[in-house]
Amino acid sequence: MKPRLFNLARLSAIVLVALFAGRGLASDHEAIEEAMKKFHKAPKGTDPICKKIAKGEGTEEQLAGILKAYEGMLASKPPQGDEAEWKKKCEALITAIKDVQAGKDGALAAYGEAVNCKACHKDFKPD
Ligand code: HEC
Repeated sequence: MKPRLFNLARLSAIVLVALFAGRGLASDHEAIEEAMKKFHKAPKGTDPICKKIAKGEGTEEQLAGILKAYEGMLASKPPQGDEAEWKKKCEALITAIKDVQAGKDGALAAYGEAVNCKACHKDFKPD
């Protein structure tokens, strides 16, 4: 009886450790998922924040928020794809948002290009 109980305790400890390790892995691209959900996705019939920004309708607060989200993406590892390419894509987004904030000419178009969903998903988003 006693050894069995001991094994059970050991087993649950192993399971717990495995769960935490799994969480650690997941949190590596959590920032990416968060950024997508918060800024790229919107309920049907409404514009996601990224689209409002591309149309020049982003508020200062939205611009600051999305910039932070993109910096979080830059610091994260994508679930798949080449890491150097990933950094380039995130940096393009960051630069574009900073240019929009600064009111630079052509910044909205540059952002619209950088935020191309398919161009990024085809390499970095698992099916
Ligand atoms: C710079 C690259 C990049 C761009 C641009 C991008 N995405 Fe993503 N997106 C990703 C990656 C990488 C994932 C996978 C995240 C993961 O599984 O951790 C993802 C996942 C998603 C998800 C699933 C999130 C979840 O809950 O797991 C949605 C929805 C999404 N993107 C929407 C969009 C839309 C809409 C656009 C265009 C307006 C867009 N994304 C532009 C990289 C990008």
